[in-house]
Amino acid sequence: MKKISIIYGSTTDNTREAAEKIAKQLSEFSPQLKDVSQCSADDFTTAECLILGTSTWGSGDLQDDWYEMLPQLKSVDLSDKIVALFGLGDAGSYSDTFVDGIGELYEFFTEKRCKIVGFIETDEYSFDASRAVIDGKFVGLPLDADNESNLTDERIINWVNIVKQSF
Ligand SMILES: Cc1cc2nc3c(=O)[nH]c(=O)nc-3n(C[C@H](O)[C@H](O)[C@H](O)COP(=O)(O)O)c2cc1C
Repeated sequence: MKKISIIYGSTTDNTREAAEKIAKQLSEFSPQLKDVSQCSADDFTTAECLILGTSTWGSGDLQDDWYEMLPQLKSVDLSDKIVALFGLGDAGSYSDTFVDGIGELYEFFTEKRCKIVGFIETDEYSFDASRAVIDGKFVGLPLDADNESNLTDERIINWVNIVKQSF
């Protein structure tokens, strides 16, 4: 069975809670669940599949702890990794930079030659612009705990079912 690590950056715990729900849906894989602030590069290299989560802060920035981690991965070979991305954002107050953090992780891990899986149609979401939309699709799972927390569980279940098939 594939080794899965779920690694998240979270400031007010919304992304952490989503990561815990994702871990529960993948319990048959016994995934490792880690806060990125507690991680070293080894946490990224030991798993075959990585599920990476970030909230978006500032005006379209990654959650702070990711900015500490990414430079440590610059010279690490991750080209054999399958990566799925998720992110928390607020489409009401930050409609022009909705879940941009997912887009920033996508750019970084694409450059690392990882295989990114788990793209999502945009139809269900109401927002103006997002760096996470490429060729008309979100490059990971957007979640909005500020406005649509009632949809979170269903969105996670559906997405995990898609992602599992790529693992
Ligand atoms: C000051 C501030 C800036 C934010 N900027 C964005 C943003 O640019 N885009 C977005 O989608 N969400 C933005 N958000 C919303 C957060 O990403 C959202 O509340 C998220 O659930 C926080 O997750 P966390 O608790 O895991 O850090 C912002 C929130 C605050 C308070």
